[in-house]
Amino acid sequence: MNATMNVPINAPLTVPAAPPAGAVAFGQKLQRALQALVYKMAPPQFTLMNLVADRWRADALGALVRLGVADGLGTEARSADDLARELQLNADALYRVLRALARDGLLNETGDRRFSLNGITAPLRRTHPHSMANMVLELSSVRNPECWSRLPEALKTGREVWSSHHDRDMWSWLDARPEEHAIFHGAMTELTREGAGPFARGFPFGDFDSVVDLGGGTGRLLANVLAAHPRSRGVLIDHASVVAQSSPVFERYAVTDRVEVISGNLFADAPPPGKGVYLLKHILHGADDVTASSLPPGAARRCAMTRGSSPSTSSCPRPPLLSSRSSTSRCSW
Ligand SMILES: C[S@@+](CC[C@H](N)C(=O)[O-])C[C@H]1O[C@@H](n2cnc3c(N)ncnc32)[C@H](O)[C@@H]1O
Repeated sequence: MNATMNVPINAPLTVPAAPPAGAVAFGQKLQRALQALVYKMAPPQFTLMNLVADRWRADALGALVRLGVADGLGTEARSADDLARELQLNADALYRVLRALARDGLLNETGDRRFSLNGITAPLRRTHPHSMANMVLELSSVRNPECWSRLPEALKTGREVWSSHHDRDMWSWLDARPEEHAIFHGAMTELTREGAGPFARGFPFGDFDSVVDLGGGTGRLLANVLAAHPRSRGVLIDHASVVAQSSPVFERYAVTDRVEVISGNLFADAPPPGKGVYLLKHILHGADDVTASSLPPGAARRCAMTRGSSPSTSSCPRPPLLSSRSSTSRCSW
């Protein structure tokens, strides 16, 4: 695997309109009700065990992407033995994992040790327009579960656990590892890709002189906003190694001449708000209250005002289909 193949900007530029907020809320409610029913159908001790064992499924899907199996499978049934030969894997081990995933409804099994991806797993492929290959790799990486395994420590100390186990922050750590860096930012881009169009169209960004995306990654969200608001100008701020990958994104959306790219520290180098609006998407959840409070005054004040709370609490994980008319959308998503 090389680092460059992980920056997917190949999704269609036209994103379907977001479904009405009411329909999304109803769908989520229904999903929760069905899930509760499924939980109640089995003895609780088995439900509990299955919940914890769900990690194994994630690891199996991660392995399919990591080893090229998902890209090799496609939607036409393929023999596990052929794939194993092609990818130099152990045929029996591969067959057992594919069969387990098929039993869980995540692959089609057509007999004769042949398998294909189904509707749920098709986005494991890198070429899929809604590919989640990097996200699956990221969440099943060694680093991610390792961090989660330190949750008890975080609960004891109240502090994030990365710093006590590494000699540098996660961003510098990623900088030194091109493959992990590409996977992480590829994953962020995949997530952003799915909601950026409706988000950009749903908020009156055109009412502001500029849109400043603090920690905006490789620029996918800002590119969508500028494409939807042709008179707006944008500023992207992120670490040097990240903004270095933004030009193809801005070029693809034909907004390059309206973007200023700043490689720097979002807490120190953000331009003053003026008549602009700040975007903070998936940023504040990584900061403690003190750090979050050191945001540019305008950004911190707006977050505090819109949520009636401290900036850091306004960035709790939220579903990406946030109604963009909500006042919080200008603070965090
Ligand atoms: C979780 S990612 C979110 C990226 C993007 N907002 C998105 O949602 O796709 C966090 C981003 O913030 C950037 N970042 C974190 N701390 C930063 C800092 N102090 N200065 C500049 N960028 C920072 C990281 O490099 C990364 O791109």
